[in-house]
Order: sequence, then structure tokens, then C-alpha cells
Amino acid sequence: MSHSVVLRHWPAPIRVETGETVLEAALAQGAPFPHGCRSGNCGACKSRLYRGAIEMTPYSDYALTAGERAQGLILACRAMPQSDAELGWLEADDLVSHPLRDLTCRVAALGDLTHDIKLVRLRIAEGGPFTFSAGQYAALGFDALAPRDYSMANVPDRDGGGEIEFHIRHVAGGVSSAYVAKGLKRGDTVRVKGPYGSSYLREQHAGPILAVAGGSGLAPIKSIVETALSLGMRQPIRLYFGVRDERDLYLEAHFQALAAQHANLKFIPVLSAAAAGTKRRAGFVHQTVAEDIAGALAELDGAKAYLAGPPVMVEAATAMLEQRGLRREDIHADAFYTEAERAQQAAGGAR
Ligand SMILES: Cc1cc2nc3c(=O)[nH]c(=O)nc-3n(C[C@H](O)[C@H](O)[C@H](O)COP(=O)(O)OP(=O)(O)OC[C@H]3O[C@@H](n4cnc5c(N)ncnc54)[C@H](O)[C@@H]3O)c2cc1C
Ligand code: FES
Repeated sequence: MSHSVVLRHWPAPIRVETGETVLEAALAQGAPFPHGCRSGNCGACKSRLYRGAIEMTPYSDYALTAGERAQGLILACRAMPQSDAELGWLEADDLVSHPLRDLTCRVAALGDLTHDIKLVRLRIAEGGPFTFSAGQYAALGFDALAPRDYSMANVPDRDGGGEIEFHIRHVAGGVSSAYVAKGLKRGDTVRVKGPYGSSYLREQHAGPILAVAGGSGLAPIKSIVETALSLGMRQPIRLYFGVRDERDLYLEAHFQALAAQHANLKFIPVLSAAAAGTKRRAGFVHQTVAEDIAGALAELDGAKAYLAGPPVMVEAATAMLEQRGLRREDIHADAFYTEAERAQQAAGGAR
């Protein structure tokens, strides 16, 4: 059984099968529905329900408050229609749409970026072309393992035929990232489904860019910053890269060289657990950003922030930026929740 759902920003109604969410159906049918985590944790798919009955599976309070729910807002990634319905997504700026692809790829290159982050470069064997916007992610299936989300790190190839780069950190006790760290070889097949995510570079935006990465969160931020520069975007771009210690820094020389070539780019590594006497900026990266904002508040006027990495960093940076007056719609964040964290959050904040 299925229901017809009218999306206010999309010309034709979509059909949503029983057991399917509005977001799944919309993406499968080509609608550029804004989204992030696809699991009720980030709030990017927040929408207004105008007509019809919707049942929601568990989600976190951070993504949708009780007050918002009472005002008729829903999360499309949790919404199962119980009748025909009509809804509209809230965010409408600069929406992009790329076909959702199921790719078969081969590992073209594999290397160590740090002691626990691998560079994985894939070549598309079947299912392309694969186009995406800088900052988006894809679900990668290694061997017979369940898929995991990883962000593209390269400048998107406009024809969708080139290689795709990922930075994959080995998570203690993790299944896929351990396989990448220890079992993956050049030439292996990898399943790739995507692109997903709405935390992509707004190419029409002319205000300052504040890009904040933690650990392997540098992957989407690298794609965003390099794409902005390659498009000739001239606004100030500040790239903060937060890691624990020296051994966790990577691509430092690369970004320093980019900053030397582009006067509008500043690259600021920040160490949270540095050895005493370090000459680098030290502390939690969101605090370093806050210190710099306090010194030059005008830089937030008309700014957009792009954040990616550990959830604790992304949440702290989001809260700090909101306190300093940046609007939520100007903060584009991808928190790297693991599947277990997503399930726990949704269950904890379930309603
Ligand atoms: C939008 C998005 C983009 C991302 N991009 C990147 C990226 O570019 N680079 C990157 O490195 N990562 C990225 N991630 C994180 C990535 O998707 C994986 O979550 C991560 O690699 C861990 O996967 P895994 O299979 O190795 O670990 P999993 O097997 O999923 O385990 C993760 C952790 O949960 C614990 N765990 C497992 N099961 C349970 C349970 N039942 N109860 C409690 N704890 C449990 C494990 O011990 C481990 O510590 C991204 C995540 C998201 C949501
Ligand atoms: S995509 Fe729906 S809450 Fe994140």
C-alpha cells in the first residue's frame, strides 16, 4: 500500500510505500529534500505538515522540540504517512539535487593520513556518473558489512566520472573502520550509495565562511574549502582544524600551501591535548573559534559556518555560534554519529 504526498517545493506528488519514510521516498524519486543524518538526530529535514496523518518513529529532542511538534512540524526522515498528505520543508536556500546512485567502485589508492586515519580513493566501475556537492556524504559498504556513512573529501568532478576520496578514521571497537584499517586492499570492490546530506557549500553565498573540522571531519571541510577556492569565491575563509595532538594533524602542508596561494584563506590548526610548551593554538577548537570571534565580531556578519567531525565538537560549536548570533540556517553541520550513538540518541529522546 502507498500514499500520495504533495511536497510544496516539488512539482509532482511522490508515492510513499508502507514502511517507507517521506525522506526515503523523496530522495529515491529525485526530490532535493534537505536532510542530514537520516535518523532523527540533526533536524535538517524539519518540515511543516499542512494536511494528512503522519506517524513518527523515535527522534531526538535536539532535532525537534515538543513545542515545534505541537506547532505542526515534523521530521521527514522519521515520518510514515498514514493517509495522503501535504508538507513543505523549511530550508529553501540554494537547494541542489543530484541523482541518488548505487555504485560499484574499486579501491584505486589507499594510504595513511595519520596513525588512525586512512585515505581511501575509489574509482567508479559501475552505476555512474556520480555527481555531488562539496560537503555531502555517501553510504559505503565494505566486503559484506552493513553500510556506514563517509563524507567525500575531493572537489566534486562536474561530470561525475572521476575518483572519489574518503578519510576514514579507525574507531575503537568499530566494524567498518577496522576493516578499512586492516583488511581493505587496492582493487577491492566497495559499494557506494549517495550522495546524501544538506551540509554542502552554498555556492551563491558571498559572506565570510567559517569552516571547522575535527579529526576526519576534515574530509567534507576539505571538499568545501577547496571547491570554494576553485570556484573563485573571494570572501574570507577561516579553516579551523581541531585535533588532539601533533600526530593527529594531517594535510597541514597542503592547507598552508593553499593559504599561501589564496590571500582570503586562513588555516588554523588547534590542539586539544598538546604537549606543554607547544607553539600552536591550544584548547578545544570551538573555544579557539570563540576567542577569535570575540576579537573580530564583524566577521560573523553575513557568515555561514560549516562544521564536521565528532558530535561533541559539532554540538559545542553549534551552541557557541548560536549564542553569538549566527542563525541556525547559516550553520551547516555534519556530526559523525556512529550507528550506535544514533540509535541511543533516538531512543533517549524518543517521543
Ligand atoms: C553524515 C556522516 C558522515 C560521516 N563521515 C565520516 C568521515 O568522513 N570519516 C570518518 O572517519 N567517519 C565518518 N562518519 C562516521 C562513520 O559513519 C562511522 O560511524 C564510523 O566509521 C564507525 O563505523 P564502524 O562500523 O567502524 O563502527 P561501528 O561498528 O558502527 O561501532 C561504532 C562504535 O559503537 C560501538 N558500538 C557498536 N555497537 C554498539 C552497541 N550495541 N552499543 C553500544 N556501543 C556499540 C563500537 O564499539 C564503536 O565504538 C560519518 C558519520 C556520519 C553520520
Ligand atoms: S535528516 Fe532528519 S533529523 Fe537529520
